[in-house]
Amino acid sequence: MLLRPATAGDLDLLSAMLVEACNWDGNPWFTVETARSDDKVWRYLAGWPRTDDFGVVAEIDGVPAGASWARLVPGGYGYVADDVPELTLGVAAAFRRRGVARALLGALAEAARPSYRRLSLSVDPQNPAADLYRAAGFVKVGVSGTSDTMVLDL
Ligand SMILES: CC(C)(COP(=O)(O)OP(=O)(O)OC[C@H]1O[C@@H](n2cnc3c(N)ncnc32)[C@H](O)[C@@H]1OP(=O)(O)O)[C@@H](O)C(=O)NCCC(=O)NCCS
Repeated sequence: MLLRPATAGDLDLLSAMLVEACNWDGNPWFTVETARSDDKVWRYLAGWPRTDDFGVVAEIDGVPAGASWARLVPGGYGYVADDVPELTLGVAAAFRRRGVARALLGALAEAARPSYRRLSLSVDPQNPAADLYRAAGFVKVGVSGTSDTMVLDL
């Protein structure tokens, strides 16, 4: 597995992973098109990459397998403070259960450390990703709607 910084050229991959995150329960709630037209969803990628944005892409045998990125999203689903970036994570279905997400989270935390003291996220407690986040050190700090807000101290 190759881990590399996410760039402007990765927008299509990140868009697809954002849709995976929206459709985490298997229901096709969003397509890339409907995600783009929904401000509350697209705020996680609009204008990518902004100056403060950072992210990581995982490739397996040269094929993009998943990505995680973070940005400051005032009022975002996982918002905790103006100086705490909120992460998004997705792994393509064909590449799951191989440790891709675990590796992405580790690399994203490394990328965040020089500039930030915390990372946040929002996850439905039914999503198996919640276990992954807990194992990576994220701690639940609140509830927003039906989802938990979690924070990692870097
Ligand atoms: C959640 C997701 C990112 C996990 O990606 P992944 O690369 O398969 O995860 P990993 O292989 O790194 O899994 C690490 C650990 O997380 C947990 N985990 C991950 N997927 C799981 C699942 N479907 N069921 C139960 N546990 C799971 C396990 O503890 C796993 O360790 P193990 O395989 O040794 O048991 C992926 O399933 C995905 O993209 N889902 C849709 C998008 C999404 O939900 N994003 C997060 C939104 S908050």
